Amino acid sequence: MDVYSAVNSRQSIRAFTDRAVPREALDRVLAAAAHAPSGSNLQPWHVYVVRGARLAELKKRVAERITAGDSGDEREYPIYPPSIESPYRERLADLGERRYGALGIARDDTQARLRERARNWDCYGASTALFCYLDRDMPVAQWADAGMYLQTVMLLLRAEQLHSCAQAAWSEYHRTVAETISPPPRRILFCGMSIGYADPSAPQPRIPRAPLAETVTFLG
Ligand SMILES: Cc1cc2nc3c(=O)[nH]c(=O)nc-3n(C[C@H](O)[C@H](O)[C@H](O)COP(=O)(O)O)c2cc1C
Repeated sequence: MDVYSAVNSRQSIRAFTDRAVPREALDRVLAAAAHAPSGSNLQPWHVYVVRGARLAELKKRVAERITAGDSGDEREYPIYPPSIESPYRERLADLGERRYGALGIARDDTQARLRERARNWDCYGASTALFCYLDRDMPVAQWADAGMYLQTVMLLLRAEQLHSCAQAAWSEYHRTVAETISPPPRRILFCGMSIGYADPSAPQPRIPRAPLAETVTFLG
């Protein structure tokens, strides 16, 4: 698979089949992804792959919290700016329209949207999840490194016919994730990622991007 095909075929998948993900494929992907660049080669990411009974237990514990009306842990980092201004606000709304619209969920059906959103913590049905931690003292530059690393993982997964969904949502239940993983306390959960085979029978809407002129400026 060439790089363009990997980039163009990657999308956030929100319905996976129960087909098992081969351990060897994960080994290949994570060995290659280790070559992702990072400032001064700090390689600041700490990655935990959770599968099988361990992941089932984690999903169950978060589901129990949600059922009990627990809306999550104190946030350890902001996922959005305090106020989302244009054009980001419109892009966020557009994602919601496409994502929930594809499932027939109306804009004002808050309960259905919340139920659908809660599928984050079931890994959208995937039986493999990856959690990316950083040391807490790492500043923004190393968080950018972790983003590049995660995208490298997601592209390599395509070469294995696998799909993924990056999930900052896991940071909302970071204490339960930490109970499962037992990371050193100095580490902070940046992002989870569901990994598996896409369910071809589920709607998986493609999310368009802004025209290039909105985000790229050529000079000279
Ligand atoms: C750092 C990061 C965190 C994300 N967190 C979530 C999440 O918690 N839940 C989710 O369903 N999608 C999540 N996404 C997926 C984005 O919504 C998605 O990448 C975006 O809408 C573009 O769609 P595409 O990936 O299908 O091209 C996340 C993506 C990134 C890069």
